[in-house]
This record gives sequence, C-alpha cells and structure tokens, in this order.
Amino acid sequence: MNSRPVVALDFPSRKEVEDFLQHFPKEELLYVKVGMELFYQEGPEIVKWLKASGHSVFLDLKLHDIPNTVEYAMKGLAKLGVDMTNVHAAGGIRMMEAAKRGLEAGTKEGAETPVLIAVTQLTSTSEEEMKRDQLISVLLEESVVHYAECAEKAGLDGVVCSAWEVETIKKKTNQDFVCLTPGIRPTGSAIGDQQRVMTPQEAKKIGSDYIVVGRPVTKSDNPYEAYLSIKKEWNGEK
Ligand code: C5P
Repeated sequence: MNSRPVVALDFPSRKEVEDFLQHFPKEELLYVKVGMELFYQEGPEIVKWLKASGHSVFLDLKLHDIPNTVEYAMKGLAKLGVDMTNVHAAGGIRMMEAAKRGLEAGTKEGAETPVLIAVTQLTSTSEEEMKRDQLISVLLEESVVHYAECAEKAGLDGVVCSAWEVETIKKKTNQDFVCLTPGIRPTGSAIGDQQRVMTPQEAKKIGSDYIVVGRPVTKSDNPYEAYLSIKKEWNGEK
C-alpha cells in the first residue's frame, strides 16, 4: 500500500496548480495525478516542473490506440520521468504489452520503470450502457475482472477500479497486482458527482493499494489540513 493518497490536480492550468500547492509546505512531497484537462493545456512541461519540485506524478492519459503508437507514446512518457501511467484494457493484450515495452525502453538507466495500470470499464459506464454501446453481454463485474486478468497477462502492474471491485479483482489476480481507486470521500464530506464512494479507512480495509482524492482536498478551505486528515485515515492513524 502506498502511504500517500494520490491528489488529483484537476485544474485548467499551471496557475491554479501553483496557487493550490502554495497551501502545502515545500517539504511535503505529494503524489499527484495529472489528467487530460491539465496535460492538454500545459503539455509535458507541467510534468517536468512537478517532478523537479520533488513530487511523484501519475499521468492519467488512458492511452488507447494501435500497439505501435502506444509503444512509442509510452517511451516518451517514461522519458518525462512519470512514476505511474495508464492505458485502456479495451485496447487488448498486445497493446498493453506494447505499452509496457515502450515504458521500459524510455526509462533512464538505473531508474525504476513507471507503474503501468489499466482502466477496465470506466466507473461512469453502467451495465446497461456497456451492453448497449459495447455489445458486451456479460455482467459488468465479469467484464471488469476479465479486463483485469488481461492486464495481468500483459504484464501490467494493476488496474484503476472502483473500490467496490477491489475484493473481486484481488481474488482473481496475483498478490502483487495493484488496485488504484478513485471515488474516495472522508467521512462526512460532500459526495459531488461520485456515486459509490468509500472512505479512506474502508478502502484500506478492502485492500486498495492507492487511493485518488480530488475535490475533498482541492476544494477545501484548508487543503493541507484536509490532505493530512485523509492521509492519517488512509494510514490507519486515526
Ligand atoms: O474530485 P474527486 O475525488 O471525485 O476526483 C477523482 C479523480 O479520479 C478525478 O480526477 C476523476 O477524473 C478520477 N476518476 C474517477 N473515477 C474513475 C477514474 C478516474 O473519479 N473511475
């Protein structure tokens, strides 16, 4: 289990990120998630800057393309020094294998290859939508587990999933296979547009390896305090 909750930097530009990070003491090194919104505005420089400040970076771009394209895209992302990144499992085993090869090829000698995880079914997808739009006729959970097994076969380190899926996925995969779970809300906070949420304490109990937290920290009046409180709960210190 990673002791630091991953903070989702869902901001439109670097300016907002800088303002947000000002709430934290310089020595508090964070594990942050940079998603499409920020990356497509600021580009690779935002990752380089966060890394130079000492933070760890999960670059959440959910790649899904032909194996060759994904392989060389991943090679470039590894060169940026990201700590974790991801693909869509729907791209297939060959695409996931290519992603891993690309990451390995782009990792500087002596450095650790970034953690590579797969998105299974987006948690925004309902079973009805999956059946109708993807023409997948099994239960949603079966599809999620199948994608997780494909990711494991391809040599990936784990999956992004709903905290509610962790126990099932863990039963079907090896011990080291990690589950990263968004949709985390500290007890008593606003749920926002998330449907099925879990507290950090519950996520820890069911065996989640990384939790992603956005608005409970980014929209808080005191982000540092909110972060520390979630971190404590996640580490079983309160
Ligand atoms: O603000 P909140 O804590 O809901 O943010 C969660 C973060 O995790 C957001 O960046 C969101 O896009 C992301 N995410 C999610 N559910 C998924 C995958 C990613 O909420 N299934």
